[in-house]
Amino acid sequence: MSDQQAPLLNAVDLKKYYPVKQGIFKPDAEVKALDGVSFTLERGKTLAVVGESGCGKSTLGRLLTMIEVPTGGTLDFQGKDLLMRDPESDKLRRQKIQIVFQNPYGSLNPRKKIGQILEEPLEINSDLNKAERKARALEMMAKVGLKTEHYDRYPHMFSGGQRQRIAIARGLMLNPEVVVADEPVSALDVSVQAQVLNLMMDLQQELGLSYVFISHDLSVVEHIADEVMVMYLGRCVEKGTAEALFNDPQHPYTQALLSATPRLDPEHRRERIKLTGELPSPLNPPKGCAFNARCRHAIDKCAHEQPALKTYSDRQIACFVVEEQG
Ligand SMILES: Nc1ncnc2c1ncn2[C@@H]1O[C@H](COP(=O)(O)OP(=O)(O)O)[C@@H](O)[C@H]1O
Ligand SMILES: [Mg+2]
Repeated sequence: MSDQQAPLLNAVDLKKYYPVKQGIFKPDAEVKALDGVSFTLERGKTLAVVGESGCGKSTLGRLLTMIEVPTGGTLDFQGKDLLMRDPESDKLRRQKIQIVFQNPYGSLNPRKKIGQILEEPLEINSDLNKAERKARALEMMAKVGLKTEHYDRYPHMFSGGQRQRIAIARGLMLNPEVVVADEPVSALDVSVQAQVLNLMMDLQQELGLSYVFISHDLSVVEHIADEVMVMYLGRCVEKGTAEALFNDPQHPYTQALLSATPRLDPEHRRERIKLTGELPSPLNPPKGCAFNARCRHAIDKCAHEQPALKTYSDRQIACFVVEEQG
C-alpha cells in the first residue's frame, strides 16, 4: 500500500533500548528509552509529543529521522517501509523527513555563513548549480522572515529567535513533507516563542507540512497541535485530539501536566495538582504502572500490573483507574 490514502507516517510499536555498562562486576543493563510507541501522522497535521524531560521524546525524534535505528517496531512513510535499507528508502528518509533541534546555538556551525549553512543540504542532495542554490537559500530566508543581507553573516550575529528561524529554514531546504521539531522554542523567551510558533504554523499552511512537535511544555503545543501524545517513561499514557486532551484530560499524569500550565481562559482553569517526586529511571523502572508512585488516584492494582493503552470513544489511555470508571 503506497498511495495517497496511506497516512504520511505510520509508526507501530517503536522501541529503542540502549545497552549501558554497569561496571565490571555487574552485567550490562538496558535502558528502555522508548518502549512501544505507535501513532499515525496525517498530511498537513501536527502531532505533539509531550512529557517531562527523560521520557523518551528525543529518542523518538531520532528514530523518526533515522539518526538511530529502532530496536523494534515498524515505520512507514506513505506505505513505504523506512527501515528497509535500500536506495529508495534512503532517499525518502533524507529528503522527506527533516529534524529541527532546540538548540540553534549548538546546531549551527559558527564558522559558516548563513548562506553556506542553508545551501549545504542542496550540495549533497540536489543537482542545483551554485546560482540556483543561492536563489533557493534567499527564497527560504524570505519565507522565514530573514533579510537578504543576512546571507553573508555568521550565526553569532543573530538573536536566539533569528537563529531558530535559520535552523527552520535549513530544515526546509530539501522540501521535506515531515518536520520533526525537537523543543524548537524551548530555548527562547516567551515573547519570541510565540513568534516562532506563528512562523511554523504559517509555513505549515503554505507548504503543506506535517509536524511532529516535541515539547516538555504542554502550554507551547496548545495552538499548534492537532493531536497530542503524552509520554511517560518511554510509553504513551494518553493520546487524542488536542481539544479532547486540553479540555478534558483523563490520565492522572496528563491532568497533572496540564494543571501546571498557565491557562488564560477561566473556564478551563483547573485545580493545581502538584507533581511530587521525579521521573523514575528507565534503567530501573517501577513495577506496575510507571506513574503509580506519583499518582494521587493509584489503586492497589497499579503497583503490580502495567496498564495497556486502551481505546475509548475519543482517545487512548493507559490507566487502571480510568478503566474501572469505564
Ligand atoms: N544514547 C543513550 N544511551 C543510554 N541512554 C540514553 C541514550 N539516549 C537517551 N538515553 C536515556 O533514555 C531516556 C530518554 O531520553 P530522551 O529521549 O532524551 O528523553 P527526553 O527527550 O524526553 O528528555 C533517558 O533516561 C536517557 O538518559
Ligand atoms: Mg529531549
